[in-house]
Amino acid sequence: MNKITIAIDGFSSTGKSTIAKQLAQKLHYVYVDSGAMYRAVTFYAMQQEYISECYFFKDKLINNLEDIHLSFCYNSELGFAEIFLNNVNVENDIRSLEVSNFVSRIAEVPEVRRKLVEQQQEFGKNKGVVMDGRDIGTVVFPDAELKFFINASADKRAKRRFDELIKKGDKVTYNEILKNVEYRDRIDSTREDSPLIKAIDAIEIDNSDLSLTEQFDKIYEIVQNKLRNI
Ligand code: DC
Repeated sequence: MNKITIAIDGFSSTGKSTIAKQLAQKLHYVYVDSGAMYRAVTFYAMQQEYISECYFFKDKLINNLEDIHLSFCYNSELGFAEIFLNNVNVENDIRSLEVSNFVSRIAEVPEVRRKLVEQQQEFGKNKGVVMDGRDIGTVVFPDAELKFFINASADKRAKRRFDELIKKGDKVTYNEILKNVEYRDRIDSTREDSPLIKAIDAIEIDNSDLSLTEQFDKIYEIVQNKLRNI
């Protein structure tokens, strides 16, 4: 059967990566979490002290972009590929609230976007890929055969992210998370370079009131239809 490219975009904490992982597993496609790439660059900038609450040495980051090597390595126990920054597994480090608080500023930098988009396009050049992010259907793969735009209320998204972080043992409050979700929504959708917008040919799914199974079944049916008609 011909392989296709599936782009999944949407606001933060809408569960895009859960759907993307499930789809990739079911279809035996490659899954790429493009947000993890922006998070890993953010983690690098924090490690190098290029960014903090008081400053952002954007030029230093831009001048050292060549020192950042990102790769994914499939973890069969987890069932997805973890991200490596300069050969170190940073999958856990990049999920902290601190990284979440800085990532939108890093993702606004056009030079960072150019570098990551190039690598994302390379990952998807043979099709058979499910990629989730903010600009996958609009910029990375504008010709993707199937595009989804996932949405849910800010309250539901914050609640889900809060539960996830608490389970991991992070000390966070629901209000902190809600603030971060709303802040990222604003920056992601108003930035100049590749703002988060729904591609005109994307199928919108609001999962505020859908269970994971209901959501998967709905999306998988659309994928099956597409694959039958390709
Ligand atoms: O999906 P996520 O929450 O892990 O993404 C982290 C941040 O990265 C998000 O706030 C915006 C940015 N991002 C982006 O600008 N473009 C993408 N394709 C993916 C993520």
